[in-house]
Amino acid sequence: MAWRHHLLGLTTVGLLASALWAQRDPPADEVLIRSADLPPDAVWLESLDLRLMSCDWQTPQAGKSVEGNPLKLHGVTYPHGVGSHARSEFNIDLKGAATRFLAMVGVDDEKQGQGSVVFRVWVDGKVVIETGTLRGGDEPKLISLDLTGAKRLGLVIDDADQSIDSDHGDWAGALIKLVAGTELRPVAIRGPVEPPVPVEPPIEMWSVTQTPPAPAIHGPRVTGATPGRPFLFRIPATGEAPLTFAAEGLPPGLRLDSATGVISGALAAEGTTDVMLTVRGPKGASSRKLTIIGGQHKLCQTPPLGWNSWNVFAGAIDEVKVRATAEAMVSSGLAAHGYVYVNIDDHWEAGRDAAGRIQTDPAKFPNMLALCDYVHSLGLKIGIYSSPGPTTCGGRTASWQHELLDAQQYAAWGFDYLKYDWCSYGDVVRDEPDGLPKLQKPYRVMREALDQVDRDIVFSFCQYGMGEVWKWGAELGGNCWRTTGDITDTWDSMSRIGFAQDGHEQYAGPGHWNDPDMLVVGKVGWGRPRANRMTPNEQVTHITLWVLQAAPLLLGCDLTQLDEFTLNLMCNDEVLDVHQDPLGKAAGRKARDGQQEIWARALSDGTLAVGLFNRGRDAADVTVKWADVGLAGEQPVRDLWARKDVGRHADGYTGRVPAHGARLIKVGAAR
Ligand code: GAL
Repeated sequence: MAWRHHLLGLTTVGLLASALWAQRDPPADEVLIRSADLPPDAVWLESLDLRLMSCDWQTPQAGKSVEGNPLKLHGVTYPHGVGSHARSEFNIDLKGAATRFLAMVGVDDEKQGQGSVVFRVWVDGKVVIETGTLRGGDEPKLISLDLTGAKRLGLVIDDADQSIDSDHGDWAGALIKLVAGTELRPVAIRGPVEPPVPVEPPIEMWSVTQTPPAPAIHGPRVTGATPGRPFLFRIPATGEAPLTFAAEGLPPGLRLDSATGVISGALAAEGTTDVMLTVRGPKGASSRKLTIIGGQHKLCQTPPLGWNSWNVFAGAIDEVKVRATAEAMVSSGLAAHGYVYVNIDDHWEAGRDAAGRIQTDPAKFPNMLALCDYVHSLGLKIGIYSSPGPTTCGGRTASWQHELLDAQQYAAWGFDYLKYDWCSYGDVVRDEPDGLPKLQKPYRVMREALDQVDRDIVFSFCQYGMGEVWKWGAELGGNCWRTTGDITDTWDSMSRIGFAQDGHEQYAGPGHWNDPDMLVVGKVGWGRPRANRMTPNEQVTHITLWVLQAAPLLLGCDLTQLDEFTLNLMCNDEVLDVHQDPLGKAAGRKARDGQQEIWARALSDGTLAVGLFNRGRDAADVTVKWADVGLAGEQPVRDLWARKDVGRHADGYTGRVPAHGARLIKVGAAR
């Protein structure tokens, strides 16, 4: 069937296709790709510039598996070909000189039965071959594709299910046959194989302009702090001004400023206290319970909400921009919906003084103490960045052998959050044996240092997921840990990262969260802010995934230039209530059907938040079956992005989801 389908697809682009799935009597093509010798008028795939082939683990290997072994599929060794790892993309300009692409594809035998991938071949912007899922140990498939007249060839190895673990995909024996006697040679080119999807209007979304004038409280319902250390909590609230605040049952040591809604002071003792918060305005009053937990290591009861400078300003960050960001966090309304952290990333550092104390770059951060005070005066919190090696990723001074001094300095300035990278640490411990102790040590050292200072500082690990950090990040006292490399504002990057998080959810919970990296919505640009490169629906997918996964929501855009779409995406209180749910259960994948996925998380009120995702390039009806998410019988359903009830449904719910889009629903009656 699949083969017939591909034939049709090819015919429509004017090519004659033949895709022969693994035949036992090796046809001429198969003999060619098993051969050590290059046939006349052909090039081996491995002779092209493989630096332009993307690969999500290690690097593509010429003539070898991704781990450097002989290329081997189902017991057959191939002298030529390329070993890569899902997800992998390779874009080739054929120069009009190609006649055929040949390869045997599958998961390399080095994985001994593990791994699952899909191979896709693109010709001139269309998928012409899709192998379906190939698992480790499956028979490989022969690709023999007529390329007469084709201009571009795109080779993709995609993750098929679960994570990309063990997805060692081979283009074994791969070669491109050329027009007889031609001098022209195909060349590898930059850029994604998959063209962007057309921009469609976003799904129906509630708009911030619909915020009711009646007062309402948002944000976390539970927060924690260490007794004796500075406490700061700005009650996020919307409603027609002026608003005034009251708090009944505050634990000893805390006081409320009734005009600003800021609770400050220092908890006098350990223990859990339920406080009744009330906000009053011209259009009424509203109350909500806030649980305050006093104790050691009680920070981040819910995942952080805030901003980080990297994705928008990178090395161009300075105090002026941080102040403007903090002001914009309040004036845009973000703070009223719960956003609180204003985090400075790399490029604030500039050497040490004679006593070893870290110095700020004086041109950029002339007075860190005053800056922290200013951010706190708005009721917000402020974060900083460092690395355990001698230098940061940006080449600035980092914390190597100065960890305690640095922690003391952060506390003295008034920082509330530390993002701690890995850069340059590998160089100083090169001679130490590899393994978990080596990966964990710098985080243990900084944890101890933070415990010695008199200030609560959220500890965020940024070591890209090495050593499966999600399994030990909490034990080491991390409040969140990056699970991936750096994100960028493309569908490929965001969706690859976001959909690869399945399985990590079991390690998240109050106080410790998976961090698939900072948000790439709004104007980002790493020093040159520009329009976002994802479609609105792709950005809905991004936020829906991060909300379901209880990942930190750290905006990475210019808050002084927020557009209405971005505000609608970030300030939907029903969506944020899922993110901030006090149960702290992160979502995992519950079902997958081709390009459609269902993710779900249980909420503290007994309902379920369910994401309906469409990774495909065309709008589609996506169905969640109650049986797949542990439900049975008729259930009420609410569309959270639209903030509308959408009826009661017996066996499941079907929603129309745009290309690369998502919907988020709440299922069941609240307790
Ligand atoms: C990277 C990190 C980025 C950013 C950058 C700063 O390693 O993943 O998020 O912090 O360093 O140089």
